[in-house]
Amino acid sequence: MELFQIGTDPWGQEIIIRISWALLTVAFWAGIAFVLFHAVYAVVWKPKVAADEAAPSGAEHGIPEKIVRHTGAARMFHWVMAASMLTLLATGFLPIVGLEFAWLNIHWISGLILILCILYHIVHASFFLDFWSIWILPGDLAEAVQRTKRQLGQDAEVGKHGKYPLDHKLYHLAVSVFGLLVSATGLLMMLRIDTPIVPRNDLFYTEATWGIVYSLHGFASVLFVTLTISHIYFAIRPEKLWMTKAMIFGWVGRSDYLAHHDPNKWKVKG
Ligand code: HEM
Repeated sequence: MELFQIGTDPWGQEIIIRISWALLTVAFWAGIAFVLFHAVYAVVWKPKVAADEAAPSGAEHGIPEKIVRHTGAARMFHWVMAASMLTLLATGFLPIVGLEFAWLNIHWISGLILILCILYHIVHASFFLDFWSIWILPGDLAEAVQRTKRQLGQDAEVGKHGKYPLDHKLYHLAVSVFGLLVSATGLLMMLRIDTPIVPRNDLFYTEATWGIVYSLHGFASVLFVTLTISHIYFAIRPEKLWMTKAMIFGWVGRSDYLAHHDPNKWKVKG
């Protein structure tokens, strides 16, 4: 399987143009395979190892009945970002798989909306949210070891987590890295098309360098296919619906909070 589409520059030298779209097929089927594997694993294996321990009696003391998990501003960010991401995926990939339509304007406008969302989120999370709650910290690595042991059927104690468990933190890290990559390359690629925002300038880079920019954009884009499939799958799994509801309504109930979180790690006010 080819990893790149190869072409020639004006001097007849071979250059990379972009990634091979066979990688789109790989990314799609990797997402579907992950979902199927997890769905089977969750039925066959998981119940043997993962039973959320009940909270000790009296733990609910001082904990409100409804706990704010996402503020209105955070939820608005999430849903605008989701809409722009789905639009980017559809406008980026449907023409590649054969559905032709005027995709480019919708694409770059959604791209700019995504970038504004990201900038807003960076400021909001840095100054108004608990910034460190979503980043992988040394304590998470100890949890990862314990979790792996437990998944392998060994007797290992896994403590409850703070606001976000390790898998959410890993997902957020991947989305942050590849979101920044797709945004930076997308902004550069606006120099290759006619928009009212910035004059077209094909000569900004050599053809070989443009090939690298297009490849990075394509690489991050196909990864978002896998990431988005797995994200939507987890959002609709029955045992995760309490979190999805929190992204719609903003709050989690006290029993869900106590079943999944350590009140010392995610402190809420009574
Ligand atoms: C996850 C989000 C995104 C996905 C899935 C995506 C996907 C794609 C794909 C598949 C292409 C075709 C590339 C090629 O022909 O090699 C493309 C082109 C393009 N993208 Fe994105 N993209 C995303 C985000 C962005 C962002 C944030 C921007 C910034 C405004 C952007 C701007 C562009 C532009 C201007 C082009 C056209 C380049 C050209 O036709 O010469 N994209 N995108």
